[in-house]
Amino acid sequence: MQEPTKTTPVAVVTGANRGIGKAVAAQLARDGYRTVLAVRDPARGRAAARELPAQATVEQLDVADADSVARFARRLRDRYGRVDVLVNNAAVNYDTWQDPLGADLDLVRDTLDVNAIGAWRVSQALAPLMRRHSPGRRIVNVSSESGSLTDMHAATPAYAMSKAALNALTRLLAAQLAPDGILVNSVCPGWVATDMGGPTAPRTPAQGAASVLWAVRIPDDGPTGGFFRDGQPLPW
Ligand SMILES: NC(=O)c1ccc[n+]([C@@H]2O[C@H](COP(=O)([O-])OP(=O)(O)OC[C@H]3O[C@@H](n4cnc5c(N)ncnc54)[C@H](OP(=O)(O)O)[C@@H]3O)[C@@H](O)[C@H]2O)c1
Repeated sequence: MQEPTKTTPVAVVTGANRGIGKAVAAQLARDGYRTVLAVRDPARGRAAARELPAQATVEQLDVADADSVARFARRLRDRYGRVDVLVNNAAVNYDTWQDPLGADLDLVRDTLDVNAIGAWRVSQALAPLMRRHSPGRRIVNVSSESGSLTDMHAATPAYAMSKAALNALTRLLAAQLAPDGILVNSVCPGWVATDMGGPTAPRTPAQGAASVLWAVRIPDDGPTGGFFRDGQPLPW
């Protein structure tokens, strides 16, 4: 394996200690990125990193905690001075037990705070490390078809709201970062067998990760401000 240098691109994956985030981090490390597993609990992050096929570092990050996000951004600035790829993957509360009229609004607020504002917080903190002139910079927001307004059901209301909001964030950031050449897209990984997706889901984490990796690997003149699964557009 080649030793990383100052020019080796840096990839950050939030919520990378399990599930789809871990599978994305594994592949990015294999692809030669200096890969940062950004995790709430570093012990669990280190356990995940030991299982990866290539070297990766672990950093503490709670996307719902502004101080944790600020400390995380400072550590990345001091250690690497750059971020090339940000995968906003961390999420909670696939609330299958709720409907819109009965929904616990405190839980809705907490869900928005992690799934949508968390991604916003991390993007704000890391954008200064991304807004420099080099190719290959991407923000990938790991969304869900549950957030599609076109296909909205009276189900998983907290989660659906949070992913619709995350998709709006994708549009906002894509517009602001287009002049910097940073491509920002939402992706749905499909239904994946993880703690969130449950054991009967048809896709493996690696299969779910493929949609995320597609949005990392698109060329610099590729799409921005879009919503995709398996590299194909989804309705908003
Ligand atoms: N699985 C599916 O079928 C499916 C379908 C569509 C979209 N997605 C999306 O795919 C992404 C990954 O889902 P998954 O299935 O891999 O879920 P998962 O197995 O439940 O993993 C979620 C990850 O997010 C982390 N996380 C939660 N809150 C966090 C916080 N405040 N700060 C930092 N990390 C936090 C968790 O860390 P802890 O271990 O510390 O809790 C965990 O690493 C999510 O955005 C999800 O909405 C999943």
